[in-house]
Amino acid sequence: MKTFLKFPDGFWWGAAMSGPQSEGWAGKRYENIMDTWYRTRREDFFDGVGPDVTSDFFHRFEEDFRRMKEAGIHSFRTSVQWTRLIADFETGKPDAQGVAFYRSMIEAAKKNGIELVLNLHHFDMPTILFERYGGWESRHVVELFAKFAKTAFECFGNDVRFWTTFNEPMVIVDGGYLYGYHYPGLKGEGRRGVQVLYHLCLASAMAVEQYRKLGLKGKIGLIVNVTPAYSKSNGEADQNAARFFDWFHWRSFLDVSILGRFPEELVDVLRRDGVLWNAKEEDEALLMANRIDFAGINYYHPTRVQAPDSITETGWLPDRYYAHYDWPQKRVNASKNWEIFPRALYDVAMAMKTLYPDTPWFVSECGIGVHDEERFRDPEGVIDDAYRIAFFEEHLEWLHQAIQEGADCFGFHVWAALDCWSWNNAYRNRYGLIEVDLSDQRRTMKRSGTWYRKVSMRNGLEK
Ligand code: BG6
Repeated sequence: MKTFLKFPDGFWWGAAMSGPQSEGWAGKRYENIMDTWYRTRREDFFDGVGPDVTSDFFHRFEEDFRRMKEAGIHSFRTSVQWTRLIADFETGKPDAQGVAFYRSMIEAAKKNGIELVLNLHHFDMPTILFERYGGWESRHVVELFAKFAKTAFECFGNDVRFWTTFNEPMVIVDGGYLYGYHYPGLKGEGRRGVQVLYHLCLASAMAVEQYRKLGLKGKIGLIVNVTPAYSKSNGEADQNAARFFDWFHWRSFLDVSILGRFPEELVDVLRRDGVLWNAKEEDEALLMANRIDFAGINYYHPTRVQAPDSITETGWLPDRYYAHYDWPQKRVNASKNWEIFPRALYDVAMAMKTLYPDTPWFVSECGIGVHDEERFRDPEGVIDDAYRIAFFEEHLEWLHQAIQEGADCFGFHVWAALDCWSWNNAYRNRYGLIEVDLSDQRRTMKRSGTWYRKVSMRNGLEK
């Protein structure tokens, strides 16, 4: 017999995207580091497709909100682009065209009954700030980010109730300075990466400070990608490896923005290795005073770790303290080579409950990217993405279980509302509930969109 898994009243059924992945190069805006990367090293991008090829949200947001509504989406996260809103980075003066665009976008979301969550940074550092000051390595840039945040709150803080400062700040550290898969593509630059990590935490706290100073009535949070570590064995060395992975990769950001301090054990290790960040004395009070109201958790896959054999890297990398291993029972999404392990969402939810019992949170991204979805088009012309429905069902079952056991999770956002461009995959992996045909920008609901509508309308699903 089937049971109905009902979610709490008012639970958010939503979706996420980001400005740079959906708006394209339309309208007036400065160049960001992704644009520059594409302009200068096109060969790094899958199929040579860059951030200029998008679903054109800039012109089509009215239609997109209507379609999201049809898919049962009643909350939507996107980002305000620093390079679009701001005319002068040093003063934070807004650009009139940027303001007008975001105003009409916010209006359209409202008209469709969609709650907006506006994020301030989705990997899109203005190139000029990178070239002039070194991007997130510079404390001056941290201060400029706070000015941008203030401007965004002044312009839209009364119309948008939910804000987040950063999406996945660890990707900036990992991708940009440690493993080289994001701009500026450096590897093993531990000292610089750790300084960037610290500056991102500081920038987030400074943005929270600006928000509170304006006395706005909404809530402000931070979005962190959590790839929880499972150790190969219960042996001490393997468990230490998993612990370090979690401290470095996600507890760093969550501890400091929720508890106001970094995990002590992490600080000790970084100090011992000579890679600890430079800080000012007043920072400690600032971080403590400007903690977030809620957290967003992006969950896609777990991490399997064991104790490392030996340290071989040049420079400093966090994986001197852990090594990856292949879990023999692992199920994989072949398109992305990411392990599918829905139970981890339950474990993450319970970790949130234990570590941060007073902070509500939501799943701000979860999804499955699949190659060549054309293979699954049915005779009616619709993408029959049963794999996506199954993926969500399994994750939602575990999430439901965690909520039953007291996890304070208030929503679920799929990645993504519509197929959108991404840094490392362009359009190779499609994630949307709504298909975008890039040849003519036609939108078509996938089966998963119809399924999501039903889940959202019933506030739950059958198991
Ligand atoms: C998240 C990001 O890490 O994963 C998104 O917030 C990204 O920007 C998504 O698009 C999916 O990753 P990818 O590389 O498969 O598109």
